[in-house]
Amino acid sequence: KQIVRVGLMGFGTVGTGVVRIVQAHQEDLQKQTGLGIEITKILVQNAEKSRSISEMDPLLTTNADEILNDADIDVVVEVIGGISPAREYILAALEQGKHVVTANKDLMALHGAEILAKAEEKGCDVFYEASVAGGIPILRALVEGFASDRITKMMGIVNGTTNYIMTKMSQEGADYADVLKEAQALGYAEADPTSDVEGFDAARKMAILATLGFRVPMKLEDVDVKGISSVSKEDIAYGKRLGYEVKLLGLARRDGEAIEVSVQPTMVAKHHPLASVNGVFNAVYVHGEAVGETMFYGPGAGELPTATAVVSDLVTVVKNMKLGVNGRGVVAPYKEKVLKADSE
Ligand code: NDP
Ligand code: HSE
Repeated sequence: KQIVRVGLMGFGTVGTGVVRIVQAHQEDLQKQTGLGIEITKILVQNAEKSRSISEMDPLLTTNADEILNDADIDVVVEVIGGISPAREYILAALEQGKHVVTANKDLMALHGAEILAKAEEKGCDVFYEASVAGGIPILRALVEGFASDRITKMMGIVNGTTNYIMTKMSQEGADYADVLKEAQALGYAEADPTSDVEGFDAARKMAILATLGFRVPMKLEDVDVKGISSVSKEDIAYGKRLGYEVKLLGLARRDGEAIEVSVQPTMVAKHHPLASVNGVFNAVYVHGEAVGETMFYGPGAGELPTATAVVSDLVTVVKNMKLGVNGRGVVAPYKEKVLKADSE
């Protein structure tokens, strides 16, 4: 095989970034993997919509079966979002022996166990780096980088939309509703921004971080969540006067066997590095018994940063294909069946 064929599901903010990066870095991707990568079909909801990359119009389809039943397609990249039909499409793709890359934290936090079990049964790869903290390769860091250590605590600003809103409220005294609209226009927010502002998106990400970091299945329902919709400009200004920035902070802590995970608006002292994480940027602080304190920082949402993570996962899948180790993984960093579905 010389060319790996990719079926892209979703051509919105992230899907557009994926196409741009695959096109722009084609030669380099080929050098790294030894194989060409070609996007051969793109699933959308509305094929009539005008797109920023119109040259892909001939590849558009509204029929998922054109990707799922196409024996020439090796990898499905799912960037539709939400649970259904993304879950059904991913399971069907795996059933057909196709590898999967997804940016879908809703799905991986709720149905990760089911998806990873199906992948294992079929000898397929599933990677989901973009699901947490956009362009920051934090899942790889947890699974590979800290394989030798025992992580005791993680703190994260893991939602770009709310951090963008809180930063503008803090620095410019902007109105919550206006800045939320801006974040939506910039492609940072979820299709239903309630997930962002009520902390559910951050909770899903913290459940994934805790599961992979502590190597223990974490149920989403066990994450305590409070969002930012009740935080006023006055609260933020008051915090500032006392020397604090208000941040939507995820906390995951292990004490012996006990694990506690929460997301809530938190007063962060100005001298703490997390206080100066502004705008759409995310940061994850990780404490390990041996390594001590580390911190990861970068853009948490947006077209190209998120697509960087998706395409890097795609590169891993293609490298595994070249080596013939998909699902068995010399290069497969987090295929453990550790994410547990809510319903289990
Ligand atoms: P968008 O809403 O921008 O794009 C969604 C795409 O999926 C669109 O192309 C849409 O089609 C298509 N789509 C939606 N529903 C269906 C359906 N039922 N059948 C076929 N196609 C469908 O989403 P994003 O790109 O922002 O997000 C995609 C995923 O990436 C989500 O899981 C999100 O949580 C995750 N993510 C997003 C980040 C971001 O910064 N935006 C960052 C990290 C993760 P059409 O174009 O025709 O409307
Ligand atoms: N809506 C999410 C955010 C996208 O704002 O962080 C990135 O996961």
